[in-house]
Amino acid sequence: MGLPVVVLISGAGSNLQALIDRQLAGDLPVEIRAVISNRADALGLERAKRAGIATRVLSHREFTNRAAYDAELVTLIDGVAPGLVVLAGFMRILTPEFVAKFQGRLLNIHPSLLPKFPGLHTHQRAIEAGETVHGATVHFVTEELDGGPGVIQARVPVLPGDDATALAARVLAQEHLIYPLAVGWFAKDRLRLGEDGLARLDGEVLHRPIRLDELSLAGNRTLTEDKV
Ligand code: GRF
Repeated sequence: MGLPVVVLISGAGSNLQALIDRQLAGDLPVEIRAVISNRADALGLERAKRAGIATRVLSHREFTNRAAYDAELVTLIDGVAPGLVVLAGFMRILTPEFVAKFQGRLLNIHPSLLPKFPGLHTHQRAIEAGETVHGATVHFVTEELDGGPGVIQARVPVLPGDDATALAARVLAQEHLIYPLAVGWFAKDRLRLGEDGLARLDGEVLHRPIRLDELSLAGNRTLTEDKV
């Protein structure tokens, strides 16, 4: 049995699917106990059901304020007792209370090379800024929006003629690689957020996120070898 995990989504759920696929393949030691969406029409809910995972919809429309919504969300999550909460395209800003509650066991994936382009419309903004490289970042969540310690990044080129849709698809394919990696590290007790606010992998402080291309180039300590 793997680490109990809850995944929060709002949309397509392709990152959720990547986690399900790795878990079914036997190389991600997690048990996804529930998928919670703030939108009833999130396609990711169907993906969860297909995989036999319990789903819940908690619509933000039924709440008058963010604090009340997040308090109910905490109750739902606590009911499942996860060791890790995975934000996978959950399109809501979380209250400081929520973040504090799950501090150190709350991961997010963001479609940019943080600290570049926090917030929305990252692909369009990267194109408009004339970036030649773009990507995605998995990070621990702290109170600062898209600002917590980075764990792993993947880079993609921005190609001439790219529009936001083309660039997003190229980034998303990389997200599906790095999110299961980071979740796997956490599940295997290799990745932690220290009391000092620094992320550590195998006890080593990550002063910057690991880069996926470094892992494969190094033939690597982490990508293929399992220290557990
Ligand atoms: C991804 O680009 C993720 O980085 C962002 O929202 C998107 C979610 O995609 N936070 P999906 O729902 O996992 O397909």
